[in-house]
Amino acid sequence: MSPDEMKKLAAKAALEHVEPGIIVGMGTGSTVNHFIDLLGTIKSKIEGAVSSSEASTARLKALNIPVYELNAVGEIPLYIDGADESNHYLQLIKGGGGALTREKIIAAASKKFVCIADQSKLVDILGNFPLPVEVIPMARSYVARQIVKLGGEPVYREGFITDNGNQILDTHGLSIMEPAKLEGQINNIPGVVTNGLFAIHPADVLILGSPEGAKTIY
Ligand code: 5RP
Repeated sequence: MSPDEMKKLAAKAALEHVEPGIIVGMGTGSTVNHFIDLLGTIKSKIEGAVSSSEASTARLKALNIPVYELNAVGEIPLYIDGADESNHYLQLIKGGGGALTREKIIAAASKKFVCIADQSKLVDILGNFPLPVEVIPMARSYVARQIVKLGGEPVYREGFITDNGNQILDTHGLSIMEPAKLEGQINNIPGVVTNGLFAIHPADVLILGSPEGAKTIY
């Protein structure tokens, strides 16, 4: 079974979490794209979505799913998003697609975060996937030097601008033993918008697609 088929399995299993009449918070990425396509088949049962990226917004709108501004809604009952890595505590590295800041905001504004991924994303220790850090452009070199002091090897994601008009440093060489501590340390560097660790607020549910089916971890 291909990774994409496993992503689709996870996306399908996540549909069970969609209650009638709700607004769904939507992440970004290829796994979420499968979920959005499936959401299109039950769109009359939900009120709409709040989106974490221009890409997800375009996909939702193409399926005629109403997209609301976060400021126009209250607490979101359910947030669905993928991940680049998850440990067994459901602490994540996200941001491979560069949408980490809006993803973190919507995850924070949501009651339940269901993460969907193929089984390869589950790891014992976070950090093999380079940790994305969104930075204000003028601060990029300064932030990079501070990340080196924390033991990382930041690499500028050239030619990429986030939906917020910022840049990304992909941080290699980290073996993240204390994810929540590192999340706070990096976010405290002036010029950092946010980093891709979702550890202070991990996912609530992780659904992993595998050749044996979708496995749910709480
Ligand atoms: C985007 C993300 C994605 O959730 C993450 O990169 C996983 O992507 P995919 O579902 O394509 O494997 O954090 O910013």
